[in-house]
Amino acid sequence: LRAAVIGGGRNGEHQVSLASAASVAAALDPEGYEVVRLTIAPDGTWRDDAEAPIGLPAAVGTLQSCDVALPIVHGPRGEDGTLAALLELAGVPYVGSGVRPGALAMDKWVTKLIASELGIATAPGRLLTARTAAGCAWNGPVVVKPVAAGSSLGVTLVREEAAFAEALAEALRHDDRVLVEEVVAGREVDIAVLGDVVTPALEIVADGFFDYEAKYGGGTVFRVPAPIDPAATKALEEAARALYDALGCRGVARVDFFLTEAGPVLNEVNTMPGLTGHSQVPRMFAAAGWDYPQLLDRLIRDALA
Ligand code: DAL
Ligand code: MG
Repeated sequence: LRAAVIGGGRNGEHQVSLASAASVAAALDPEGYEVVRLTIAPDGTWRDDAEAPIGLPAAVGTLQSCDVALPIVHGPRGEDGTLAALLELAGVPYVGSGVRPGALAMDKWVTKLIASELGIATAPGRLLTARTAAGCAWNGPVVVKPVAAGSSLGVTLVREEAAFAEALAEALRHDDRVLVEEVVAGREVDIAVLGDVVTPALEIVADGFFDYEAKYGGGTVFRVPAPIDPAATKALEEAARALYDALGCRGVARVDFFLTEAGPVLNEVNTMPGLTGHSQVPRMFAAAGWDYPQLLDRLIRDALA
């Protein structure tokens, strides 16, 4: 099979997406796939296998010459349904979620509303825009985040009122809507869903805030399977599965929670989670007995089904 692996992207997670796409391409190559690499540069232009700029029509032509596409692009203008839309219109089978789940899950406010309908707890939060942020009163330690972004970009844990205005301004640099959420005290636990499969949970043993540096600096300890009692495990699995189904996800989604005394509190859903060798998803599937090529193989089979 000829498989197009798309990496990069026009957003702050460009480097992360390059790393994920490189891992995917490297794993597919020895499995007998004919791998075609396409990269979206930080300015949004498309590059071919040799990094040469090509126009969008040429990129679409390349995609249409492939049996399947793997859009390994995290964040806005990738994971948010835009790449899925391009592939739908081009008629190219692709790995992962479609337009709607991508768009819904990239919007942390909408995800909250859907979770709440499903009876899944999220951090109490307020939605603000540049216009309403100015009048927003300080009400204790909060997390300020852009509604649509990834890898913790633009996210600030604010403990002091003095830092609140700058945190709002920073989040507004990433999106025109921001969320101000109460800080949730709990263990950080991820779980992945792929069709009928729910993986063992993974715990992030982060010393403080699991921010961009902690995510990619390499110092974070993961425990997988996470040592979690059966009742909490069941609650996490059911919540992850319910969100995956309600959003209409396909392929692999990583659902991130805080595990509190009162049960799981949803943080967010990632429809194109990090896929580097040291990312959480490959670790969770390894704990389920799947190696990385097996995971990719299943994703591709689902895309072609
Ligand atoms: N947004 C990053 C890539 C993740 O969810 O892993
Ligand atoms: Mg994310």
